[in-house]
Amino acid sequence: MLIEFKNVKVGYNPDTEVEINNKKYLIHGVIDGEDILVETDAKYPYLKKIVKPSPHRIPFNEEEVGGAQFHHIDYEYELELKKKYLNELFAPFHLKEIKMNGMDNPYNYRNKSQMTFKLSKTKRIIYGLYEEYSHNIITADNNILQSEKANLVIKELNKILAKHKIRPYDEKTRTGNLRHVLVRYGFNSKELMVVLITNGEMFPGRNNVLSDLKKLNLGITTVVQNFNSRDTSIVLGDKDRVLYGPGFIYEYVGDYKFKISPQSFFQVNTNGMKKLYDLAMKNAGITKNDIVIDAYSGVGTISIFASKYAKQVFGVELNKNAVHDAIINAKINNIKNVEFICNDATNYLTNLARIKEHVDVVIMDPPRDGSTKPFINAIKYLGARKAIYISCNPETLKRDLYQFFENGYVLKSIESVDMFPKTVSLECVAVLELKEDKLEEAIKKANTKKYNENKIKYIPKADIEMMREDKYEAFGFKNKKKQ
Ligand SMILES: C[S@@+](CC[C@H](N)C(=O)[O-])C[C@H]1O[C@@H](n2cnc3c(N)ncnc32)[C@H](O)[C@@H]1O
Repeated sequence: MLIEFKNVKVGYNPDTEVEINNKKYLIHGVIDGEDILVETDAKYPYLKKIVKPSPHRIPFNEEEVGGAQFHHIDYEYELELKKKYLNELFAPFHLKEIKMNGMDNPYNYRNKSQMTFKLSKTKRIIYGLYEEYSHNIITADNNILQSEKANLVIKELNKILAKHKIRPYDEKTRTGNLRHVLVRYGFNSKELMVVLITNGEMFPGRNNVLSDLKKLNLGITTVVQNFNSRDTSIVLGDKDRVLYGPGFIYEYVGDYKFKISPQSFFQVNTNGMKKLYDLAMKNAGITKNDIVIDAYSGVGTISIFASKYAKQVFGVELNKNAVHDAIINAKINNIKNVEFICNDATNYLTNLARIKEHVDVVIMDPPRDGSTKPFINAIKYLGARKAIYISCNPETLKRDLYQFFENGYVLKSIESVDMFPKTVSLECVAVLELKEDKLEEAIKKANTKKYNENKIKYIPKADIEMMREDKYEAFGFKNKKKQ
């Protein structure tokens, strides 16, 4: 049965709640004010037809929009929605209007694409993205978020796998071989990495697949096999085998060159990353006498951007592969005033505070879960006059800001860079300054004699399980085509 709902109300997420037979359901893919027809003869009622479309609605191909919750909305309106959401969320802080910096091209911007392969009921190899909160796969041909290069590689690879009868992994029986494919593309360097994630080290047909991949002439510069035989939805296992090329790619961002390995965290939107870091640097006001901490430093990109302005930068990061890459990144950019420390950020900062060190500016870019109270408290004990909080989750940013306020920091501004166009995800830069009177007091408490480089470097390590970058990927897909 079809039921019409008129002038539907939609919040930030493009969903509307409807009531059918005293039960409430979320209908996805709608825009505020639209009249819609909902099909109710299904396990979950779904959007059947738009009766009165919003002027902001744009056409799309269902097969191409996996992961892109705002696929049906024009980009100008999407930016308006994002701005409104942030301004409402942070309204209690009485800031000037939060600015939203959009992208020139909101499509095909992802430099990292992950696809899962499996057998369909009709025993065809299918590939796509994981649906949110499930192990269902939604199709992702010519996906509007992934780079065109990645879309091409994945389409061609699918043919190669069929030709050589490579069996995709079956989660239920835990048999079969190929689990996922990861493609990383350097938009500026034009280098292209393909990672084949297999169920264990065995990969029958590996040489045939490799040889056909090379013949594609798509500019693939390296191919890596990654082993993952765990019963998990985390994509990458711990071990890699390089099958072709150097096993990593380089990418250029601004004046710098970065090494990217299969495992390392690298911001997924290369153009957006440059805008984000420029914004962070503009607001950090770092001077040549400053000691800067870049917490949650990944492969050292922010540390390297900050090194130009600072006396010394310390990057702290939990993932040892990322730290390894960060050290190499500093080397290939010939940067001498950065050090990278493999440690839990909270453990590192609280220990620095305990030994009464002093730092001038802290830049932090934690995962979606945000940071910790002890970490934020330590920033004050270190006497940092400024904290730049880069966040991909406005909700945890808001929670953490209250902790900064308790410590005498004032929120100067929040600005957003639209790092994830066509999706509901957002990236913010919050600028915090320690109040004048508190700054004097904090610096007095911290050891102002002279900072001791060795002490800063050799803080004991936290006994914390290695965090995995896959956890921080922001993706949401609902009610999309299942196979
Ligand atoms: C959002 S990423 C930011 C990376 C980097 N700043 C960038 O712009 O590419 C968060 C990083 O925090 C790291 N991380 C997660 N938990 C951590 C912890 N407890 N201590 C230190 N680093 C952590 C992750 O490995 C990841 O590299």
